Amino acid sequence: MSSLDDYLHERRAQFERELVDLLCIPSVSASSANRDDVRRAAAWVVDQFRGLKLKTELVETAGHPIVYAESPAVAGAPTVLVYGHYDVQPPDPLKEWISPPFEPAIREGNIYARGATDDKGQMLTHIKSTEAWLKSQGKLPLQLKFLIEGEEEVGSTHLEEFIAKNRTRLACDCVVISDTSQFAPGVPAITYGLRGLAYFELNLTGPSQDKHSGTFGGAIANPANVLCSMLAALINERGQVQIPGFYNDVEPLTPRERDEFKKLPFDERGFMQKLGVEALRGEEGYSTLERRWARPTCDINGMLSGYTGEGAKTVLPARAMAKFSFRLVPKQDPKIISAALEKRLRELCPKGVKMELVSSHGAPGVVVPLDSPYVAAAERAIEHGFGKRPVFMREGGSIPVVAIFHDLLGVDTLLLGWGLDDDNPHSPNEKFCLADFHRGIKASAHLWQELGQIKRT
Ligand code: BES
Ligand code: ZN
Repeated sequence: MSSLDDYLHERRAQFERELVDLLCIPSVSASSANRDDVRRAAAWVVDQFRGLKLKTELVETAGHPIVYAESPAVAGAPTVLVYGHYDVQPPDPLKEWISPPFEPAIREGNIYARGATDDKGQMLTHIKSTEAWLKSQGKLPLQLKFLIEGEEEVGSTHLEEFIAKNRTRLACDCVVISDTSQFAPGVPAITYGLRGLAYFELNLTGPSQDKHSGTFGGAIANPANVLCSMLAALINERGQVQIPGFYNDVEPLTPRERDEFKKLPFDERGFMQKLGVEALRGEEGYSTLERRWARPTCDINGMLSGYTGEGAKTVLPARAMAKFSFRLVPKQDPKIISAALEKRLRELCPKGVKMELVSSHGAPGVVVPLDSPYVAAAERAIEHGFGKRPVFMREGGSIPVVAIFHDLLGVDTLLLGWGLDDDNPHSPNEKFCLADFHRGIKASAHLWQELGQIKRT
């Protein structure tokens, strides 16, 4: 495949320029002010596929558009569906960015921009590898279908409906997603598990308006105090979630899996250092990797109440709000968790405070099987691209569509992450290592070769 590898080598600068172009578009799916930018990013992806002469469609939804493209079927070879997302998280807090989030900057071999790793840079590796095949070999060794959405960061709201309505069009033998991380620099990985998510907003209302805390404090319930105690009651000192039934469907880690986790070269000190913390804390009886990958948890994502301006104001706030979420593990059902949570919160909420619980997106956790020819093909392709055989790991984040592919299309997903743990997705100074960008493209190009050789049964 020398002409393929040559093409990849010669086009490095072009690939980087294209990544910069895409990263300049502020496609923040959560923000209505960025609606047109989100469309522009979708159109950019469409142009890429049209440039490769793939059959391409921009699919309108009630939210942001989905981009779908496919290459011709190849007799005897499998069909692979590539999923990615062109939307990004909001860039806040802006002040903490060294260079502006939508003005990509290269420092020490990394490209810094919102979406660099999550998921524009990683998603683009599969488009560029496909380009390399088509331009250097004239055709692909298998059929590829691309499904690139614009709502992943807001829970993939309209994707399920599209997949349900297009099962025949999307039919495939396996799915490939690059939207996760390597285990560590120089330690590429195949991810076989993701946590799920159940996300909530809790609104508490007390008196009809803010009141003097001296005149009224101690006589009525303070929504901010109540919010703190209600949320604090959801998790105990031992890191265990305190909702009746929460652990009912949690499968214990097997001794074998605990052993496998232990064998991974995890540097706890380096982990703390990078995070800027002096100690780690989590569920009692579990290692850090177990806590991050295979145990459910609860985190507050944001809180709003009372006075937070300059100086002090002795006020008893009328309202308090929190956004919080649970990371779930496979078999835990976000809907059951949601019902159990609401019941528990109603018990915890005192008289004199009105409570409203809004349940937003959810996603079940997943584990995918490792004993398949597709995984073996991915191992070889990663070894080719990264020069090392991948390790197997799980991941604490969520990708809602993986369970949907399993349930609606009956296929498993290969989670091949090219990112790194300290890439800062969802936080300031998001980055992607350019060497990994190119290694990812190379691994992907070889993945098409490896997967193309699997005979369809
Ligand atoms: N790329 C991430 C998933 C991820 C997170 C992989 C961390 C590896 C490490 C994805 O785009 C993401 O952030 N997903 C959301 C899903 C949610 C909005 C339903 C998440 O995990 O918060
Ligand atoms: Zn992502």
